[in-house]
Amino acid sequence: MSDSPPPSSGGSHRRLIIIAVAGFVLIVIAAVASFVALEPGPEPVATATRTPTPTPTPTPTPTPTPTPTFDKTQFSIDDASSLWVVANKLRPLNPQTYEPNLVFVDVPYVYEPYLTPDAAAAVIEMFAAFEAETGLQMQSQSSYRSYWSQESVYAGWVSSLGQEAADLTSARPGHSEHQTGLSIDVSASPANCTLDQCFGDTPQGQWLAENGWKYGFTVRYPEGKTDITGYEYEPWHMRYVGNALAAELHSTGIQTLEEFFGLPAAPNYG
Ligand code: DAL
Ligand code: ZN
Repeated sequence: MSDSPPPSSGGSHRRLIIIAVAGFVLIVIAAVASFVALEPGPEPVATATRTPTPTPTPTPTPTPTPTPTFDKTQFSIDDASSLWVVANKLRPLNPQTYEPNLVFVDVPYVYEPYLTPDAAAAVIEMFAAFEAETGLQMQSQSSYRSYWSQESVYAGWVSSLGQEAADLTSARPGHSEHQTGLSIDVSASPANCTLDQCFGDTPQGQWLAENGWKYGFTVRYPEGKTDITGYEYEPWHMRYVGNALAAELHSTGIQTLEEFFGLPAAPNYG
């Protein structure tokens, strides 16, 4: 007889059950594992795309646009030889017999024209532009007049009109812009409304009023400003003040030198 008991049929049965259960468990585990493996993974968590924080654009410091101020003191208004000299009934030339440097102005003329070199060059350019633009002509009626020629011109007006009326159209000697070599009386060629207010309605007069500033001129005795300038409307009398001041007068719409420079109105002699 052997000591070892023969495997009982009950024990072997238990082993079989254990093996079966274990097998089943393994199958279940395998199935679950494969199922899990087949399951699509979780949606990938979207990696938050980091929107780069924009570098703050520095708020531009507003640069104040400087209003270009026109320097009204660039030239003297008192010196008789100054480009900006203001002569009127209250502002005689100093000295009253002042004589400028003059050159002949090579343009068509009635009386031989002389002006300061800069004014002469500007007149030549202006007349050429007028002819090129319109096909018409203008001429110098009268330009520089000395103290003594102004004396006889003024005396002529006094004898024909009387002093009161003469003073509205002709300066007394020593008070005329014509004596500075910066002013010119322009007339049409052929003559039309010469030294008459209707000159302002001629093509020449209209063109001068619209375009004279481009060449450094201003209509010195505008319509409606007699109380300020002391003279009636003279659409033919062009005063050279240079391009900068002429453009400033044009753009500001200030019509008289008295108003522009803040000078007292000069309707009468002091
Ligand atoms: N006709 C201008 C005012 C002059 O005589 O100067
Ligand atoms: Zn004049």
